[in-house]
Amino acid sequence: MTSQDLIALEDKHGAHNYHPLPVVLSKGEGAYVWDVEGKRYFDFLSAYSAVNQGHCHPKIISALNEQAATLTLTSRAFHNDVLGQFEKYITELFGYDKVLPMNTGVEGGETANKLARKWGYLKKGIEDNKARILFAKGNFWGRTLAAISSSDDPVSYKGFGPYMPGYDLIPYNDLEALETDLKDPNVCAFMVEPIQGEAGVVVPDEGYLAGVRQLCTKYNVLFIADEVQTGIARTGKMLATDYEDARPDVLILGKALSGGVFPVSAVLADDEVMLCIKPGEHGSTFGGNPLACRVAQAALEVVVEEKLADNAQRLGHVFRRELQNMDSDMITAVRGKGLLNAIVIKPKNGKEAWDVCLKLRDNGLLAKPTHGDIIRFAPPLVITESQLMECVDIIKKTLQSF
Ligand SMILES: Cc1ncc(COP(=O)(O)O)c(C=O)c1O
Repeated sequence: MTSQDLIALEDKHGAHNYHPLPVVLSKGEGAYVWDVEGKRYFDFLSAYSAVNQGHCHPKIISALNEQAATLTLTSRAFHNDVLGQFEKYITELFGYDKVLPMNTGVEGGETANKLARKWGYLKKGIEDNKARILFAKGNFWGRTLAAISSSDDPVSYKGFGPYMPGYDLIPYNDLEALETDLKDPNVCAFMVEPIQGEAGVVVPDEGYLAGVRQLCTKYNVLFIADEVQTGIARTGKMLATDYEDARPDVLILGKALSGGVFPVSAVLADDEVMLCIKPGEHGSTFGGNPLACRVAQAALEVVVEEKLADNAQRLGHVFRRELQNMDSDMITAVRGKGLLNAIVIKPKNGKEAWDVCLKLRDNGLLAKPTHGDIIRFAPPLVITESQLMECVDIIKKTLQSF
């Protein structure tokens, strides 16, 4: 079947909850993907930063194959011989006492919220059902009812009420506003992305994350970092919070935790917080399954062994410098950290970010607009400098063609 046939098939039989760029992919390797007609592209989305290790990384796929042929799922009704080893590895790597494994990123967020509420009641002494969690405006952490209840994007929340109580929004990158709200003794947590990904790669001022850490400590409130998109080397350090003295109390990881092989997420915290949840109070049939644990450990080992954070940091500087020097009147801003970057597009002759992405596709590079005028550029972190320079040429040539 051709790309057109396959798109028509999805359109007829699938829900219309996405608006994909018209390209049908059938193969991936490293920084490349191929469509069904055999055309090759650079992947500059990396499945929203899930494929940091590159498509079909041999070490991850081999862990997947081996474990898939041995034992895939036991549920947590029984122990399995992989979970404990993975838990030891990930907690030592990130420096926390305990981990709670889940599947999708949004489940990681839900878990962090439940942990924070429980901690609020058991440890902070908040009266039953009074706990508040603060979020930053512009946040995105998924599509469950809880996640959209904290969203200020009407496309996400409108028509899906009633919403979760006990959630409040404050401005992002604003420590004064945070401090004002933290004074309420019913606040148990502030959950925030170190860089807001879906909002369009919004990078806060230097010192913001360290400030969040200090204020949360001062008011005995948990700092929850949603590093589902920014974590695992994407921004040039293992965690985006590593850039500052800003160790979160609760850390949420997802996406690249499996190298994009399938959904694996995790919440990390120290005993004081994690042990607030007791047997039977939270879980998931698939969370912590042996297949996920083997894949996730291999995915993390790849990041460490191949020094992907260093590559992201170094190439991020090169890439932003090239974008800034591009001298296109369609680019009004360039921002990002490591290999999580975005440009803001000013329409020209009626052509918008969507049209730029279509042209980029024609020229062999896949990216997707967000919020109409922002194009995120987030290639797999295994990309080399010469591949990146090829991509810079594609972007330049594309913008010049308008
Ligand atoms: C920061 C952040 N948190 C959470 C999520 C939700 O992850 P998932 O789609 O795996 O549920 C996303 C997804 O884009 C995200 O960017």
